[in-house]
Amino acid sequence: MQKFVITGGAPLNGEVRIAGAKNAVLKMMAAAVLTDEPVTLRNVPRISDVVILRELMSDIGFEVRRSNGDALEIRALEAPWPFVPLEAAVKMRASFILLGPMLARFGRVILPNPGGDRIGRRPVDFHVEAMQRMGATIAYRNGYYFAATPRDGLRGAHVTFPRVTVMGTENVILAATLARGTTVIDNAALEPEVDDLIALLGDMGGRVARTGERRIEVEGVDRLGGAEHRVLGDRLEAETFAIAAAITRGDVTLRGVDPRHLGAFLEVAERMGVPLEADAEAGLIHVRCRDSAPLRPVDVRTDPYPGFATDFQAPLSVLLTQADGVSTIHETIFEDRLDHARELVKMGADIELLGTQRARITGPTPLHGAEVGIADLRAGATLILAGLAATGTSVVSGIEHVDRGYEQIEAKLVALGARINRIEA
Ligand code: EPU
Repeated sequence: MQKFVITGGAPLNGEVRIAGAKNAVLKMMAAAVLTDEPVTLRNVPRISDVVILRELMSDIGFEVRRSNGDALEIRALEAPWPFVPLEAAVKMRASFILLGPMLARFGRVILPNPGGDRIGRRPVDFHVEAMQRMGATIAYRNGYYFAATPRDGLRGAHVTFPRVTVMGTENVILAATLARGTTVIDNAALEPEVDDLIALLGDMGGRVARTGERRIEVEGVDRLGGAEHRVLGDRLEAETFAIAAAITRGDVTLRGVDPRHLGAFLEVAERMGVPLEADAEAGLIHVRCRDSAPLRPVDVRTDPYPGFATDFQAPLSVLLTQADGVSTIHETIFEDRLDHARELVKMGADIELLGTQRARITGPTPLHGAEVGIADLRAGATLILAGLAATGTSVVSGIEHVDRGYEQIEAKLVALGARINRIEA
């Protein structure tokens, strides 16, 4: 097992290049299943979730290989073994994104129930019900979904999600590209990663368009072809580095991300008094906190995009421990995503939990080094941020979860002046 040892207090300065978005690239890899022609993705982050999905897709029988540094080439000729083992699904819930493309292209797949993880219950009922509406038969036995289409494939359908679901929207889009007729998705997700997937599908010959507020229409086509696509920048990685700059009173320029995708975060940062400038044309954000005034407290509620991202309330809470007064966080997407609070309290934070979805944070409280750890990607990044701000040394465990979604996080932080080492423990 590996851990990070962080000696806090060093202001971060310099430039950092933001990697391609995890929550886009995984769905784009799944999109490559829809054609027998090669799909090349560029700006692919070097994160372990990509490695896991790559191995999983190779096991099914597809060719997936890294080329030219940041590119990934995928060729899905046949699926002799349309089966996703439980070990893979346990490591990565996003493996369930193969349901739609496997059904659309090969007419069958066996996938495990990815189950819940430590941010609360995470059912897949919306995905399953949507595929059933499109004509698939799906039986659930011994933890596995056995899914198959009728002989003439999936048919277009009208799907209205009971609540906004990112991967549910994407799964239906992927399935519908090769279905007979038109599919209409209502209450669809608006995340920029969904739009980037729609752009890739368009390049592959798919007919997918946003046609109304939270409505997407997909006209099925007979076949899709190969394409090359550059993955958009990771807004969550960008927000993490913006907080790292602000919490250490540094001066950092983030490159390779579209600030328009960080609207809700930038608005909260402005309300707190974090000095930053965004340039959409240049794809950069400059966080300038060297001599900034004390931070103001804020009340934040998470919501589907364009609201404040659930993934980002934990990292933001570190900054809120340094604001002057009482801030609140209301997590509305997941039932149980405030576990990081317990670890931050060990480092000196004053956080009161009101149930499992609300937290009250009183600041400013100096943070001090401690031994902390948590089995979740965004909460792990949160503890790293706290370690950067704390006096003394912190030891953060559970970093394999951070490697799932952050590319070489410690190398990027060290280049900005942080004191962070990865050790074998
Ligand atoms: N939901 C259901 N039934 C379903 C699907 C979702 O009840 O069939 C509920 C969920 O339990 C949740 C809400 O709907 O309460 C929204 O979940 P959503 O389906 O949008 O989540 P997801 O698509 O599984 C993606 C990201 C998450 C991110 C959420 C919310 C990927 C691979 N994951 O998950 O990212 O938190 O959207 O924005 O795209 C992360 O990157 O660390 C991460 C967890």
